[in-house]
Amino acid sequence: MRVVIQKDYENMCKWSANYIAGKINSHKEDRPFVLGLPTGSSPIGVYKELIALNKAGKVSFANVVTFNMDEYLGLPREHDQSYWYFMHDNFFDHLTDMKPENINILNGMTDDPEGECARYEEKIASYGGIDLFMGGIGVDGHLAFNEPFTSLSSRTGVRDLTTDTRIVNSRFFGNDPEKVPAKALSVGIGTVTDSKEVLVLISGHNKARALAAVVEGSVSQRWTCSALQLHNAAIIACDEEACGEIMVDTYKYFLDIEKNERL
Ligand code: GLP
Repeated sequence: MRVVIQKDYENMCKWSANYIAGKINSHKEDRPFVLGLPTGSSPIGVYKELIALNKAGKVSFANVVTFNMDEYLGLPREHDQSYWYFMHDNFFDHLTDMKPENINILNGMTDDPEGECARYEEKIASYGGIDLFMGGIGVDGHLAFNEPFTSLSSRTGVRDLTTDTRIVNSRFFGNDPEKVPAKALSVGIGTVTDSKEVLVLISGHNKARALAAVVEGSVSQRWTCSALQLHNAAIIACDEEACGEIMVDTYKYFLDIEKNERL
């Protein structure tokens, strides 16, 4: 696993956006580049950078197909906290050449959640899998909506949200955890780790425990993102603030080995 430590959130985002743009630009195969995408506050800066690169003509999304990680169950697209809304508002609507038909987001209003999830997996497979999955994590280490103790080989399915996650996410729902949907549709840990590459953003003091668990802890369903230790092309992009709980040796090791990546 690579860990790329940047000075702050801004540089973490800049590095990540450049990395993604580089991957899209170097994709020469006769099929679209398949990009997995997250929501949350962590990727917002990456989306801003990618939009700027796209507007400057430095990366095109014309041959990119996207799959989002998750969606709240029971929220219509138009709801300003649906992930469909988030993705259009923060990213897709600002790109010059993203094709709407290439955007895939689980339908939170489906009356057949299991079927919706099965079709999502089939659609990912129909493109030959995901080339690069970008993700963020929750303070409890959840990746997408795979809360602690979700199987590390899970596939796309319906997930119950923990009370902790509903409390954390209530900041977007008038600070009322009861207004946060109790269920979501989410790709599984197995869906993410099947991707050719995974890039996870971890920033801020409140993610320090999670970063230590992913990088230094054992592979455990307690911290579902720790499954990335078994992936042979996983990168954690993080900022200094998130490094508060890793060992000084670990910190120094990654600063040294990734010194050429430091912005
Ligand atoms: C939600 C999403 C996750 C995301 C997490 C962290 O729970 N389902 O995919 O990683 O929030 O969000 P943030 O980046 O705002 O801390």
